[in-house]
Amino acid sequence: MPQPTITLNIFRYRPEQDQEPGFQTYEVPYRRDWVVLDAINYIKDTLDGSLSYRWSCRMGICGSCGMMINGVPKLSCATFLKEYYPAPVRVEPLANFPVERDLVIVLDDFMQKLTSIKPWIIPKEAKLLSAGEYRQTPAELARYKQFSMCINCMLCYAACPVYGLEPRFLGPAAIALAQRYNLDSRDQGRSQRQEVLATEEGIWDCTLVGECTTVCPAHVDPAGAIQQAKLATALDWVKGVLMPWGKR
Ligand code: FES
Repeated sequence: MPQPTITLNIFRYRPEQDQEPGFQTYEVPYRRDWVVLDAINYIKDTLDGSLSYRWSCRMGICGSCGMMINGVPKLSCATFLKEYYPAPVRVEPLANFPVERDLVIVLDDFMQKLTSIKPWIIPKEAKLLSAGEYRQTPAELARYKQFSMCINCMLCYAACPVYGLEPRFLGPAAIALAQRYNLDSRDQGRSQRQEVLATEEGIWDCTLVGECTTVCPAHVDPAGAIQQAKLATALDWVKGVLMPWGKR
């Protein structure tokens, strides 16, 4: 019996030769245990070495293989061909980002946004190592743990209609990461992060569509993080009105 095949329509853009982006069609062997990334690697290895894309771990950890697969942001290493076979599969770069080349997007805006929320523990007073560890109870860890599971795959930005319309929006992953540190008992940096979070381009741009949470492969809930941050910011405002002398 001949080896069954599946068609992949892949977005191509090589700025040095293409005036406009387009699609290229490849026929690859179909195997039930292959993910989309396996098919793309097959193309790269045997059919067309000029195809550019990112990947690293092939196990849903590094977050580098995000692509639009039939219009939905997914990790290509965690999306099986059998979900689509025998229909063709359309593979494009993550939506809402500029394209560097083929399936490779430009990361600069995302990296700048991640950095802007100061994603590190800002203690009230730095402690010498000799003074011992910063200890936490399991309950203190549980407050922020799910927000620390983000793998920075940017699927949430590709799914977010607000980011698509307003690229200045800080976006789901950066806000979830800010919340991860704001909820950490060892951290005292919330007021510094509020300068970025509590702005129009920060939490208030979110219209609670919730697609960020739906597409997250790590089961983080960025939409929930944004609502938590909105509530905390609104309470800051109420406290500031009722007790102006006790402002944080
Ligand atoms: S290759 Fe690392 S998450 Fe897919």
